[in-house]
Amino acid sequence: MTTRPPTGSRSARDLERYAALFSTRTKVMKSSAMRDLMAVIARDDIISLAGGAPDMTVFPAEVMAKVMSQLAAEQSARALQYGPTEGLEDVKEAIIEVMAAEGTIGVDPQDILVTTGGQQVIDLFCRTLIDPGDVIIAEAPTYPGAVPCFGAYEADVVQVEMDSDGMRIDELEAVLDQLARENRRPKFIYTVPTFHNPAGVTMSLPRRKRLVEVAAERELLVLEDNPYGLLRYEGDPLPTLYSLDGGQFVVYLGTFSKIFAAGVRLGWAVAPGPVYHKLNIGKQAADLCSSPLSQLFVSTYFRTGEWPQLLSAFKERYHRRRDVMLDALAEFFGPEAVWTHPQGGLFLWATLPDFIDTTDLLARALEENVAFVPGRGAYLDGRGGSSMRLNFSYVSDEDIREGVRRIGAIVHEQVALYGTLTGTVVPSSPVADERPAPGGPDQALADVLHLPRRAGDGRRAGSSE
Ligand SMILES: Cc1ncc(COP(=O)(O)O)c(C=O)c1O
Repeated sequence: MTTRPPTGSRSARDLERYAALFSTRTKVMKSSAMRDLMAVIARDDIISLAGGAPDMTVFPAEVMAKVMSQLAAEQSARALQYGPTEGLEDVKEAIIEVMAAEGTIGVDPQDILVTTGGQQVIDLFCRTLIDPGDVIIAEAPTYPGAVPCFGAYEADVVQVEMDSDGMRIDELEAVLDQLARENRRPKFIYTVPTFHNPAGVTMSLPRRKRLVEVAAERELLVLEDNPYGLLRYEGDPLPTLYSLDGGQFVVYLGTFSKIFAAGVRLGWAVAPGPVYHKLNIGKQAADLCSSPLSQLFVSTYFRTGEWPQLLSAFKERYHRRRDVMLDALAEFFGPEAVWTHPQGGLFLWATLPDFIDTTDLLARALEENVAFVPGRGAYLDGRGGSSMRLNFSYVSDEDIREGVRRIGAIVHEQVALYGTLTGTVVPSSPVADERPAPGGPDQALADVLHLPRRAGDGRRAGSSE
């Protein structure tokens, strides 16, 4: 028997031999920015503001033990058996309860497809709808984990700008008009309307209403990806797109990852009949069914009626950490940077001066044992180069502060270096608690979501003003 050489020691010839076997699709497949970072950020000495992981220390180990023992005692054979592709009725009850808690009521269990994480919904949706070259509309930036999926199905992704009220629907309509002139009909609009990953912004109610109208007028599908809707720390709850549309053109994506446990790998889609049917067939091919063990673990837990307390515990912790991060940014990033102020969720999006490339900055940050997701991972067209996504759910308050301090120090180092090289005046030190005010509506967009800066922007380090 031959032994397999370790992965790292493949020769060029080995690689060539495999290369001839790969599908054309693999040439456009991109790895996710976050997944690439996983190996590095798993190191104990790294402060990771890069992942999107919940803090599972919130979930008491004794509760897990109790629920697992109850499950083993009462439903062992069922939990260890295959299940139906569409999911067990038991877990669908929990899903209906979760959706109702956000105001989405009247969901028909028959429209729910239980999936292996919300991520599988994105994959199945692309598998079902996308032929190579088909158009998907997404936000700019978009969820970094969707990027490899869109790539794998060879979609042509058109990214629509956002501002602090979420996706700009006027721009969406202009994009749709332009595509119509080219005889191209997008297969779907992908959006994370609430506590956007990575942008940290939320789509306003008027825009939600208009988006749903646009979808109906043009008969376009919308995939509403909503992992964070229940993680609100301030402001008033907003209706889901799904509830506004009544399940006609909006397909809903939910997950237990952020409100219960990411390790159960359970999510769901709610879709109209014909779409549901195709998604179901796609899922049969992908994995037959999602783990019944996980599904029954979730449903057994939800039956205890304790999940609202668990949700409150997550919210309390993340709310505090969000504030710690906002304070740390004001203290350590100073006037060179701007960032979003999320009302919920797990992320915020910071944008640095154009001359700083956050992919390069990450290499420097890793030397200081701190990580973030560089902004390019959220675009399919190379934009996002001076932005970064920062996560505040996973590490302790102290580490958030220390991580931001380290990144801030590197940013100042880069700004000073740029100043020396170009002879421009730069601030000598971060200004505590001073967040630059937006210069006007257009500039607010640029600040929040990495649009090109206006000429003569006096707040930018290196500018002549
Ligand atoms: C916007 C968005 N969609 C989908 C997912 C996938 O989540 P999961 O597969 O854990 O349900 C995530 C995870 O972070 C996310 O942020």
